Amino acid sequence: MKIQTCFAALSFSIALLALACKGDTAPEGTTEKPSPDSTAQPEIGDSASLQKLLNEYDPPGRDVWQRPEVVIGKMGDLSTKTVADIGAGSGFFSRRLAQQAKKVIAVELDERFIQFMDSIKRVELKPEYQRRFETRLATPSDPKLRPGEVDIVLVVNTYIYIQNRVAYLKNLLNVLPEGGKIIVVDFKKKRMPIKYPAAKIRMELYEVENELEAAGFSNFQSDDCSLDYQYIVMAEK
Ligand SMILES: C[S@@+](CC[C@H](N)C(=O)[O-])C[C@H]1O[C@@H](n2cnc3c(N)ncnc32)[C@H](O)[C@@H]1O
Repeated sequence: MKIQTCFAALSFSIALLALACKGDTAPEGTTEKPSPDSTAQPEIGDSASLQKLLNEYDPPGRDVWQRPEVVIGKMGDLSTKTVADIGAGSGFFSRRLAQQAKKVIAVELDERFIQFMDSIKRVELKPEYQRRFETRLATPSDPKLRPGEVDIVLVVNTYIYIQNRVAYLKNLLNVLPEGGKIIVVDFKKKRMPIKYPAAKIRMELYEVENELEAAGFSNFQSDDCSLDYQYIVMAEK
């Protein structure tokens, strides 16, 4: 699809969402007060805030430094695998995963992003890929995944916003089969042109590893080099 067409579709989707959200009650997951280091959850129906979040999540040129093909490549052959994309946001990764995996479950606690992904997938993806792309509304403490439902859990640019992380990771461990994988991608704590998230709320790679280990994950494979601004931590059940 041409970039102009994509952009027009994106703008149309945001406009539709603004109308759809107007007057909605707050969805599950947005009513809790965020902790000091969590993302502020703007009010439902505020399309400017949705646009602002989309600009923050998917700044121009993100593909260049995010290198989604490298991150997805770490997962190996996905043709028989189901991947949960925790904190899927605009679906930057879910949209790509749907074209390679047996299935992707885009887990999100902000209902506006669930609606955004549901509309954008119809515009961007062929019907065969749309069928493999499921959105799922979650709560801050529960990804709403069933045991055995997923083979791989992906957490991109979301890990630092999860509250009670070790308990949350234990939940994910229970959901995964033996040998199931978790992949966490997040920003390094170093000077870089990317201003969001603020350096003070970023986590060191070893802190992520420690929490994964505390939750019961093992067989760590961490990659601090492939991405300029981010690390990739992989671990197994
Ligand atoms: C910075 S965005 C990253 C979006 C996406 N992963 C990406 O890389 O483009 C973080 C997203 O995680 C969501 N989020 C935060 N905590 C969550 C949780 N406990 N469960 C599900 N989603 C969560 C937020 O609503 C937000 O959309």
